[in-house]
Amino acid sequence: MATEFRPSQVSRVTRAIVLAAGLGSRLSEGGDITPKPLRRVAGVPLVVRVLRTLRAAGIEHAVVVVGHCGHLIKAAIAEEPELGLEVSFVENTDYLKKNGVSVLAAAGFIDRECVLTMSDHLYSPELVRRLLAAEIPADGAALAVDYDIPRCFDLDDATKVGVERGLIVRISKELDAYDALDTGVFRIGPSLVAELSRVAEQNGDASLSDGVQALSRRGVFAAVDVGEVRWIDVDTQPALERAEAMLRVFGDDLGDEPGSGSDSRIDPEAIETFAPSWVRAAKPYDEQHFAVAERKGAARMMSNESPFPPSPRVLAAIMDAASRGNHYPGGSKALSDKISRREGLPTGSVLFGAGSTELIDVVIRTFVGPGEEVLLSVPTFSMYEARTRVTGGIPVLVPMTDSHDHDLSGLIRAVNERTKVIFLCSPNNPTGNRMSREDLRRMLRLGLPTVIDEAYFDFENDGSSIGLLAEFPNAMVLRTFSKAFGLAGMRLGYALAHPVVVRLLSRVKVPWNVPAVVLAAAAAALDDIAEFEARREELSAGRVELFDSLSIVPGLAPVPGEGNFVLIDVSRTGQSAERLVEQLLEQGVLIRSLTVHHAAKSYVRVTVGTREQNRRCVRAFERVLGRPVRREPMTLSAAVPSDAE
Ligand SMILES: Cc1ncc(COP(=O)(O)O)c(C=O)c1O
Repeated sequence: MATEFRPSQVSRVTRAIVLAAGLGSRLSEGGDITPKPLRRVAGVPLVVRVLRTLRAAGIEHAVVVVGHCGHLIKAAIAEEPELGLEVSFVENTDYLKKNGVSVLAAAGFIDRECVLTMSDHLYSPELVRRLLAAEIPADGAALAVDYDIPRCFDLDDATKVGVERGLIVRISKELDAYDALDTGVFRIGPSLVAELSRVAEQNGDASLSDGVQALSRRGVFAAVDVGEVRWIDVDTQPALERAEAMLRVFGDDLGDEPGSGSDSRIDPEAIETFAPSWVRAAKPYDEQHFAVAERKGAARMMSNESPFPPSPRVLAAIMDAASRGNHYPGGSKALSDKISRREGLPTGSVLFGAGSTELIDVVIRTFVGPGEEVLLSVPTFSMYEARTRVTGGIPVLVPMTDSHDHDLSGLIRAVNERTKVIFLCSPNNPTGNRMSREDLRRMLRLGLPTVIDEAYFDFENDGSSIGLLAEFPNAMVLRTFSKAFGLAGMRLGYALAHPVVVRLLSRVKVPWNVPAVVLAAAAAALDDIAEFEARREELSAGRVELFDSLSIVPGLAPVPGEGNFVLIDVSRTGQSAERLVEQLLEQGVLIRSLTVHHAAKSYVRVTVGTREQNRRCVRAFERVLGRPVRREPMTLSAAVPSDAE
């Protein structure tokens, strides 16, 4: 039987039913307990935005169905004197049931054609106008649908609709084949109420989709194309942020003209609304300690830098390369071949970054998408966590054991189907401990992309993990010129990995990221072997002296380890780590405090300096804490200090 269509009813539809009874639990996942219809988007509660839109589309009477926190919703709407439409409230005490029950609560008002809308969808008034202007089956209903599927913000959660000859034939969130998406705005009448009542009587519950399905079986549920009109279902925090960005550009009525949202002045703060939530949550790196060191002319023993400036040979190479500064840097091949030969690796195994920090970022951006996980053994270098967060990934932190060993079984247990990368730092900053080859093997056998950060490897020069690369193409070893080579200000790090992995990472890396002067400086530093060895020996010896001298200062308990730094448990000094750092700064020595995961202990970290700086540091500690005392050797502390840099 052919469906009989009835002409548009524009002039007669002046009433809207607004569903605002549910829990809206997905939006409250972040801990915000505001009922969803009252969540503010660009300063205005969702339900108020919906009412304003309805008014702009010619609706004169809105019936708001409330349930969860209904009194708050009523109060908020009552505070809006300028709505310009009559508002009635209906209580749905069964608001934990499906949304068809809310429609039935308003059945008394659905004695004629009405608009039916969710209170958490934002749309242009034009959407309502098109819905009301359409011809729909007599005694049927209609849903505004969007055929432009790719523009949907959250397709997984969208309700999908199958359409044939203008009529809805299927509707569900879980359709494999579909033509359009449900925008959450309907045109309904008594026929829908009748169907919903039947379902509710049978099942004790009813969803709107049940009603739609029943009417579509009778061939009387039309799909009305919204065309290019804008709308969004504000179901999650990211959707809320997208909605804010849309309102900024397209104005409160999400109009057709980009630019209608901004009045003459564009608010600089509002730029943030265009960034995803993980970027909004991030903080820029705080460089204050560099400024403090500079200002106070202090011994810089806070950032694991080398105390030695570049050698004359390195400086000469920098000057030479600088004279060709008009060219893009093309010299990375020569340096990567040099490093490959040095490490006995095939060509194509090296990738350069502006410091190994850039490569940490490249690895994360290569493998990790929003919501995916990066596994870390903490405490460790802070950039693994920071760069994961800013990409929308989730750092999973597995604390080291009480004796600062990696908790291998804890790490393995924390792996799941979302884990994308593992970072292992060996020797680790700040604890100075290594991961044994056997343990590294166990981790690599998991098959996951795994970074072994060897920033401090050169101080000992034995037991590198590079031998594992032949066996494990999932391994990536990171090295840096910032520590033993003393070129932190030049910014050069490199990844050593299987050529296939290097090629994958180079798709993500920005080209020409390392300046020619830096490549030249690194090549010269590698050739300056005698200078390198002399400096390394001085730093290694300095570390031992510093460790010994500090371990007899009252209250200090240095932790044995490797690297160009000494981690010190200061819990027995009777002072906080922060206070000690301040007091040392007064003595002209800048060190770093590390906050503690497990509250019992506190730590500072001292970078090995020149002999003179080391002595200055020890004297400063003695002035603050008292003269050295001989005592029993330290045991490793039970506490774990937090993220270091
Ligand atoms: C373990 C570790 N990896 C990487 C880095 C960063 O080095 P780069 O200067 O090469 O970015 C540091 C710096 O302190 C570090 O401690």
